[in-house]
Amino acid sequence: MSAHDHVADPFLDDAVPSLPPPRRRVRLDRTPVPVAESNGAPQRRSRERRTGPPAPERMRVDRLSVLYGSHRAVKDVSLPIHAGEALALIGPSGCGKTTLLRTLNRLTETTAGATREGRVLLDGTDVEQFEVTALRRRIAMVFQQPNPFPMSIFDNVAYAIRVQNRKTPRRKDLEPQVIDALRRAGLYDEVADDLGRPALRLSGGQQQRLCIARAIATRPEVLLMDEPCSALDPRSTAVIEELIGELRRDLAVVIVTHNLAQAHRIGDKVAFMYLGDLVEYGEAEQVFEDPRAERTRDYVAGAFG
Ligand SMILES: Nc1ncnc2c1ncn2[C@@H]1O[C@H](COP(=O)(O)OP(=O)(O)OP(=O)(O)O)[C@@H](O)[C@H]1O
Ligand SMILES: [Mg+2]
Repeated sequence: MSAHDHVADPFLDDAVPSLPPPRRRVRLDRTPVPVAESNGAPQRRSRERRTGPPAPERMRVDRLSVLYGSHRAVKDVSLPIHAGEALALIGPSGCGKTTLLRTLNRLTETTAGATREGRVLLDGTDVEQFEVTALRRRIAMVFQQPNPFPMSIFDNVAYAIRVQNRKTPRRKDLEPQVIDALRRAGLYDEVADDLGRPALRLSGGQQQRLCIARAIATRPEVLLMDEPCSALDPRSTAVIEELIGELRRDLAVVIVTHNLAQAHRIGDKVAFMYLGDLVEYGEAEQVFEDPRAERTRDYVAGAFG
């Protein structure tokens, strides 16, 4: 397969050459002191909560099960996804978070042997009913590893817009949309002087914001994020958390995170999964501060996982 074939579909994580995870060697001349955030203890929120009338339901997961062969990775899960809110999916490794997320925009069907039972609805219509590219324009995804295409900053964002159009728009016509997406992703000011720069020369945090710009360029209604900060330093993480707080005003965000403090900070709703089951779903405050299930209580207290 040529490098060009790799960029055929911007919505598939394995369709593009991803960079190896960044590695940093740290020489320690003293015993490391654990920071509060890594022990999973909920922290005070960094941003204001959503206020106003109840958010409209954008998606609904209805008795969804996902199987890999005979292995049931997601078991009979039902939950709503609201516009104007961030839903944080939490739970220990292997409990089905990524599988659930990838099923929302039908990425699971690219996995051989994966089958689905139950329904996933977007505005009341089963996602199966949509043409798949149109669906993934409405339900976009950002992956754990920033995966910019090996092309310029401008072309990365323009690419997503171009593949959605039957007639290829001219560069001049695309410019306002590209700049708007970069602005909304909080990256424009840092790159405005040279949009022709290769995307792969950006820092990891900038690359991830570029991927967010690419994902939101086509104005999706739902943004799926699978551990989008796990390869990033704390400063870039804070920038992206802030950004999610902004973005969720216009769309529904569903974010998988292992960082409980992050889920507490950015989630309006939180869903806790365990071994494929949805154990608890509710307002972030309720799930973290007054969990109903004992298993949730143990997990948010950092007792396992
Ligand atoms: N492509 C696949 N083929 C077969 N089994 C899979 C595949 N992907 C995931 N699984 C299995 O499905 C279950 C759920 O995996 P999934 O990746 O959804 O978990 P997760 O909660 O996202 O985990 P993590 O926190 O480690 O990312 C696991 O038991 C995993 O081994
Ligand atoms: Mg995962």
